[in-house]
Amino acid sequence: MGKRGRRRHKKLPEEIVEVSIEGLSHDGRGVARVDEKTVFVEGALPGERVKFNYVEVNRSYDVGKVCEVLDPSVDRVEPKCAVFGLCGGCSLQHMDAQKQIEAKQRILLDNFERIGKVAADEIVTPLVNESPWGYRRKARLGVRSVKGKGRVLVGFREKRNSFITDMHRCEVLHPSVGERLDALSELIGTLEAHNRIAQIEVAVDDEKASLVFRNLETLSDEDQQKLIAFAQKYDLHIFLQPKGPDSVTALWPEEIILSYALPEFGVSYQFQPTDFTQVNSDINQQMISRAIDWLDLDQSERVLDLFCGIGNFTLALATKAKWVVGVEGSETLVERARENAVRNGIENVEYHAADLSKELEQMAWWSQGFDKVLLDPARDGAQEAIPYIAKLGASKIVYVSCNPSTLARDAGLLVNEHGYKMVKAGVMDMFPHTAHVESIALFIKQ
Ligand SMILES: C[S@@+](CC[C@H](N)C(=O)[O-])C[C@H]1O[C@@H](n2cnc3c(N)ncnc32)[C@H](O)[C@@H]1O
Repeated sequence: MGKRGRRRHKKLPEEIVEVSIEGLSHDGRGVARVDEKTVFVEGALPGERVKFNYVEVNRSYDVGKVCEVLDPSVDRVEPKCAVFGLCGGCSLQHMDAQKQIEAKQRILLDNFERIGKVAADEIVTPLVNESPWGYRRKARLGVRSVKGKGRVLVGFREKRNSFITDMHRCEVLHPSVGERLDALSELIGTLEAHNRIAQIEVAVDDEKASLVFRNLETLSDEDQQKLIAFAQKYDLHIFLQPKGPDSVTALWPEEIILSYALPEFGVSYQFQPTDFTQVNSDINQQMISRAIDWLDLDQSERVLDLFCGIGNFTLALATKAKWVVGVEGSETLVERARENAVRNGIENVEYHAADLSKELEQMAWWSQGFDKVLLDPARDGAQEAIPYIAKLGASKIVYVSCNPSTLARDAGLLVNEHGYKMVKAGVMDMFPHTAHVESIALFIKQ
């Protein structure tokens, strides 16, 4: 990372400092003050007394890493993973899982207050997992053959630099992959192209895991046979990706169809391993249920589903409404969404590809009029779309978000400028042990 290069020039204070931790930052670090300057302390929890050493010094804040916990929080637990603290994948394993989601709820409420200047009438109970382990179905694993280690490293990047973590298993990845990191490392170590595999993209569907090997050169027949034997032994799908996303092709078996079902709505989806899909299937199902419940649809209503991806919400919405229009920026995902509607025999939907940061009123589908809106934007949120959405006059809007700060900003616009009331909001434990916060809010037109 470029940033790391810049940081290296700054001389770090060598002393070990003792502090009390006053809060939890939005990226899961303890917050303390030293000589009036904020220090984000990795591995520390609110209420704790800890010793830390400096790992980064900046003009307005510093970063430290816990070296001793003097007075532990009651929320502190033993991290399950051997490389917790080093690996960039997780940042909250040292906190009880229930307390993590409570902390995320506080982060959401704090964002509403500070950024959006809004409050919800009701904060609903968080949606949680049956187990907070082995949930992650999408990931990009780095791969590097490291001479000094005598092996190929397969894993997430380290927290503070771009090295691949020397890890043997991952506790949050779906076990079909999380328990096989060593096997993957051994496999790649035996390939002629052992230093020409840049990454492995993981996508787990309802049946099994798919691994997309990003091969920087064409693999020899022998290497391909080794990958095929691996796929057979571990019951996995393997794809190769020699170039950009369009170059992804199935290696074993020759035809691969990935799919997941939403049994509550009697629909299922097919997708490609590089498509956007939600990482946590259990929370995804609960989230769709909650969104549809909150929209309170009837069969006469027309619904707009913005940032619809492959139609994850759209088809479920279509089972409850008269007509649903799904809009998404990626042509590829729109194509997939259309195929999914046909495959499910659902005829009351239409999909359009559009950039939702542009003038929506200019778009042909816009003039249809909609009773209710669901939106699930990427991290940037939907600032540009909010005034248009508000003009539609929909009676209910459900906003699903993976970034509480942009949700808060957009909620502020809906409530303070466009006459909506934020009736309910809550967090969903989509990404346990990481600092990511997934949330949902319901807005009703006043
Ligand atoms: C968080 S995903 C949600 C996808 C879908 N709702 C789901 O549940 O799987 C956000 C989606 O927004 C799309 N997107 C991002 N920026 C966009 C833009 N400016 N216009 C339209 N779509 C955009 C992405 O391609 C992605 O599919």
